[in-house]
Amino acid sequence: MLEAVKLEVVDLHKRFGPVVAVDGVSFAVSRGEILVLLGPSGCGKTTILRLIAGLETPDRGDVRIGGRSVLGLPPERRDVGLLFQNYALFPHMSVAGNVAYGLRFKRVPRRERVRRVRELLELVGLTGYERRKPHELSHGQKQRVALARALAPGPEVLLLDEPLSALDAALRTELRWELRRILKEQHITSVYVTHDQEEGFTLSDRIAVMRDGRIEQQGHPEELYFSPRTPFVATFLGKANLWPGTLRRGDGGAWVDVAGAHMPADAGDLPDGSAVYVLLRPEDIAVGEGEFEAEVERVEFHGDRWEVRARFRSHPLVVFAPGRVSPGGVIRFGLKRRPLVLERRS
Ligand SMILES: Nc1ncnc2c1ncn2[C@@H]1O[C@H](COP(=O)(O)OP(=O)(O)OP(=O)(O)O)[C@@H](O)[C@H]1O
Ligand SMILES: [Mg+2]
Repeated sequence: MLEAVKLEVVDLHKRFGPVVAVDGVSFAVSRGEILVLLGPSGCGKTTILRLIAGLETPDRGDVRIGGRSVLGLPPERRDVGLLFQNYALFPHMSVAGNVAYGLRFKRVPRRERVRRVRELLELVGLTGYERRKPHELSHGQKQRVALARALAPGPEVLLLDEPLSALDAALRTELRWELRRILKEQHITSVYVTHDQEEGFTLSDRIAVMRDGRIEQQGHPEELYFSPRTPFVATFLGKANLWPGTLRRGDGGAWVDVAGAHMPADAGDLPDGSAVYVLLRPEDIAVGEGEFEAEVERVEFHGDRWEVRARFRSHPLVVFAPGRVSPGGVIRFGLKRRPLVLERRS
């Protein structure tokens, strides 16, 4: 079934003085879908959320919720919830008071408020914590309270800006799954901002990769990982061997000349002589035997495998080895599949 579009951002532009923060961004999020905005620091992620929430006014473009433009509405009338990195709970209020905060403004009757707070605390796994104060909670618990508080008024759209980045690695991984479960259970339409690729992969239904105020590519995580359209997307998502070369066509099909080495390639309809990159993920490369050689520079032990940094005809190579490899030595490798070919523009 095709889900209805709930949130739509159309050709948004925003500059701060000389800085172009958002440069023509468009995307649509279906009801109950989680869209992750992924990109390096300063690429405009937070600004987009602030424009959707009504905390900033766009220079151009539109924000639509449920098919209607909300640009004329103040933040509190947009039906948008916010969850940011610094949870900023009210320190003198109890957990229950914090969660109920937004409900008071909505003039929800007391009995209904109590019921809703109980329900939300159960949802975030904090039943029994009603009377605690924020300083009596761990970081993870505080962020759960902040989530319950953001969900309390029942917003149509929830905007999350790196909500887990203040937490330690183990807690992040754990809360990531829980957050996804809760958003899905509540059918909340969400835009989730992060610069952590792994978080983006595990949390999202769809990812938009951003760079310099623009979206470079959007799609499902697998699509972005296996079929990136630009070198930036290829290298931003996961580990990548991206080598410059020249596309050659002959009787046997297409191949790419990478510093004198011939690599078979799926080249689409690019003409002979095209400047290209080949893209190989570490898992596309078999270490041990094969027609290519590389000099090992560094080896990192990762428990389940060794990550090897090597040099292949002056290009950096990253691969995973099943056994120990010595720095300074030479490894042979082969390709498990044809590399992806990306056009190289100067
Ligand atoms: N109020 C402001 N005044 C001036 N410049 C701003 C303002 N807000 C953001 N910017 C600039 O706009 C650009 C985008 O900022 P934004 O906060 O949206 O980036 P971000 O992708 O959220 O980065 P990060 O991952 O570091 O949070 C940056 O160059 C930033 O310095
Ligand atoms: Mg930000």
